[in-house]
Amino acid sequence: MQPPAPWHRECDLTHRNTLRLPSRAQFFAAPTTLSTLRDCLMLARREGVPVTLLGGGSNVLLPPALGGVAVRPALGQWWLERNGKRTRAYVGAGVSWHALVMALSARGLWGVENLALIPGDCGAAPVQNIGAYGVELADTLSAVQVMSLADGKARWLSRRACRFGYRDSVFKRELAGSVVIIRLALELSFAPQPVLGYGDLAARVGHAPTALEVAQTVSAIRREKLPDPQRLPNAGSFFKNPVVDEAAARRLLQRYPEMPHFAQASGGVKLAAGWLIDRCGLKGQRFGAFGVHQRQALVLVHFGGGDRTGLKHAAGQVAGAVRERFGVALEVEPRTISA
Ligand code: EPU
Repeated sequence: MQPPAPWHRECDLTHRNTLRLPSRAQFFAAPTTLSTLRDCLMLARREGVPVTLLGGGSNVLLPPALGGVAVRPALGQWWLERNGKRTRAYVGAGVSWHALVMALSARGLWGVENLALIPGDCGAAPVQNIGAYGVELADTLSAVQVMSLADGKARWLSRRACRFGYRDSVFKRELAGSVVIIRLALELSFAPQPVLGYGDLAARVGHAPTALEVAQTVSAIRREKLPDPQRLPNAGSFFKNPVVDEAAARRLLQRYPEMPHFAQASGGVKLAAGWLIDRCGLKGQRFGAFGVHQRQALVLVHFGGGDRTGLKHAAGQVAGAVRERFGVALEVEPRTISA
């Protein structure tokens, strides 16, 4: 098939994923308007070309060869609407999440400041319901606008319809592969509402901080703990924090009373995967081209020259060690894209 002008043929995606896994897409497109995005999806449908949706590439495991067209919605507009005490931000899927957080916080708007420095595009944020420092996207997101891959029609989904959970949403499940996220609506507030209960955040910010100060402090903490993907490729936390049943948590706590654990409102106890991996002595451990980060054991890093198979092998070694020592199964967090 002859691709239309905005489609790039044989596009190298290695620098479009923060793990720098070598990957080539048969076609790549980054439509900047809703109508060109719709045209792109409808053409793919007519020609029977599979569509893979990409954002900033900070939470995906790409295959070496990706058939069909990889589409990155580059919808870069956002604006604010005041409605009484509340302020709503409408944000295009292609806006950088961190740039948005800093722009909103600098305007004195509260709601997303704890989510500073999370890499990736706004359109990908609802997929895994990004979360950090006691806040998750679902706390401020009021609706998500999606476009159907089947007919190009746009519709809004309420927060409830997004079925958010810990690093989970309807976009990873029932709606996976059938819609593109095109816009978010966030409910923000000019009234200060700091959430400072996580870790040493309260101790690090001054008294009565501004939203911008909180965002800057969160950024500083993240820079200390997490490797910069530009320097040491990674995808943030590689595993989810596992939730075990109360009996299993009790058994583990008898043996390891210092183990971090968080009772869940929905039942079960969440454990810190980073602590479990650390306790297996794996911090700084290398497995071929990949390794466990020296400062945060939950992050796997790529030293160069590896591919997805090597990464899966490294992840298997880490998960195997945790299963053997603690009897706890770890689940990989980034999304595996099929070839
Ligand atoms: N810990 C260790 N050793 C380690 C790492 C952690 O002992 O190498 C312990 C810490 O001391 C702490 C506990 O484990 O007691 C939790 O660690 P931390 O506060 O660093 O958070 P995390 O559970 O490892 C989660 C998110 C991060 C988010 C932070 C802060 C997941 C999978 N990860 O990490 O999100 O930034 O909390 O809220 O939920 C991401 O998703 O990519 C990500 C970076």
